[in-house]
Amino acid sequence: MTDAVHHPIFARIFDRLSGSMEKEVGVHRDELLAGLSGRVLEVGAGNGMNFGHYPATVTEVVALEPEPYLRERADAAARHAPVPVTVRDGVAHPLPARDDEFDAAVVSLVLCSVPDPDHAVAELRRVVKPGGELRFLEHVRSSRPRKARLEEALDRSGVWPLMGGGCHCARDTIATLQRNGFAIDRVRRMDVGPSMLHTNPHVLGVAR
Ligand SMILES: C[S@@+](CC[C@H](N)C(=O)[O-])C[C@H]1O[C@@H](n2cnc3c(N)ncnc32)[C@H](O)[C@@H]1O
Repeated sequence: MTDAVHHPIFARIFDRLSGSMEKEVGVHRDELLAGLSGRVLEVGAGNGMNFGHYPATVTEVVALEPEPYLRERADAAARHAPVPVTVRDGVAHPLPARDDEFDAAVVSLVLCSVPDPDHAVAELRRVVKPGGELRFLEHVRSSRPRKARLEEALDRSGVWPLMGGGCHCARDTIATLQRNGFAIDRVRRMDVGPSMLHTNPHVLGVAR
């Protein structure tokens, strides 16, 4: 499993920039995680930016991060988290977890980067208990046709995925969730930073 995802340059740039990016993204993390309880699986935890935002009702977070440099940073962040966080190596598909193992799962800015989003969401569905929930904060394809075509072209060109550690900007993540067994309970569409960015809009919500 080790080094299944290895983006050493992206990882270091992401880690360096994430502090300033949090001015835009961080304000949404409390909303992303509010009200969660029990055992939570976070997939693609990066350098652990969500950890400080978990509510005290969460008894354990198992945080998967496949990129070695980011996993090390996540490990360091876990030591200061307000709830117990265990950082592990692991990818989104297949998930190293048992069926129905978790009360909830969390993905933030991850389904854009996994190789097969349908497979990743089916795996999330498998490991979340019946009645459990998936919290998501993801950037998705624009609903404006011209911008969506530009985003698709960026993805196809390979340039953005190369710069963004495998990121794609034209994925329709809500449709992927619905196709793979989740019902959308709540969703809010918003921009993070300037609306013209190819990584806008974002969706923030709860699926069951
Ligand atoms: C843009 S970062 C987001 C990090 C973090 N979730 C956050 O909200 O700040 C994308 C993350 O997805 C991870 N990732 C990439 N491919 C993955 C895969 N196949 N399975 C799980 N995580 C993956 C990357 O290593 C990286 O940590």
